[in-house]
Amino acid sequence: MEYITRQTQGDFCLLDQRDENLWMDAGMVTSPANWSLDFALGMNFFEWHAPVPKAHEMGIFKRALRFLLAIQYGAPARRLNWSMTVNPILDTSTENYHQWGMQKTTMTPENVGSKQHLRVELQTFFRLPRSNALAFPIRCYLIKLEELVTIPKWGRRLHRVVRDLPIELVTYKGLINTRPLIIDYLSQFDDGAETSPGEWPD
Ligand code: HEM
Repeated sequence: MEYITRQTQGDFCLLDQRDENLWMDAGMVTSPANWSLDFALGMNFFEWHAPVPKAHEMGIFKRALRFLLAIQYGAPARRLNWSMTVNPILDTSTENYHQWGMQKTTMTPENVGSKQHLRVELQTFFRLPRSNALAFPIRCYLIKLEELVTIPKWGRRLHRVVRDLPIELVTYKGLINTRPLIIDYLSQFDDGAETSPGEWPD
């Protein structure tokens, strides 16, 4: 696994399936969005998701696990996840918080457009044929807010998402101090028009 994952881009987790659950048995992770592979190793699906607010009470993780347990060989699935990062830093592991956490304090109204990045993860789920484990590759993409707002629909939508995010999620995503700056900046690009469904530019 180490040999293969050193030849490829992105992160990889290997989830063994037993006792109607998934277990984080192995991984090669260099761009985690504020989590730690060392900490999560050996945990099950509910345990490593424990810090995520709201989703447990809403039954989302139970449904997500049921979906993942049913993934068949030859029929992979995918999902997107998002967060935000100051400066284009891929390794925002918990272990390196002392290196990237402080950088949030360097943001000002003048530089927020170039420093604040939307961080999107493309996550895929593949059933492995012999072990019946799930391979979980994660590919992280960062875009500066000033690049993102060149697509009017994205600027409008991100403004509304960050502005209307429940406070528990604002805290969880590490935005509690920087959100006012981000909302102020993005509000210039929200003309109140409707956005079309889906992620593609209009
Ligand atoms: C088996 C594959 C998966 C793995 C290994 C995985 C792993 C993780 C990890 C390590 C975190 C960070 C938790 C922390 O804060 O310490 C996380 C967050 C999260 N996961 Fe998963 N996950 C998987 C599948 C899913 C699926 C299928 C869903 C669908 C509902 C999901 C929803 C979430 C959400 C909503 C968050 C919070 C992210 C945020 O708001 O930034 N995960 N996941």
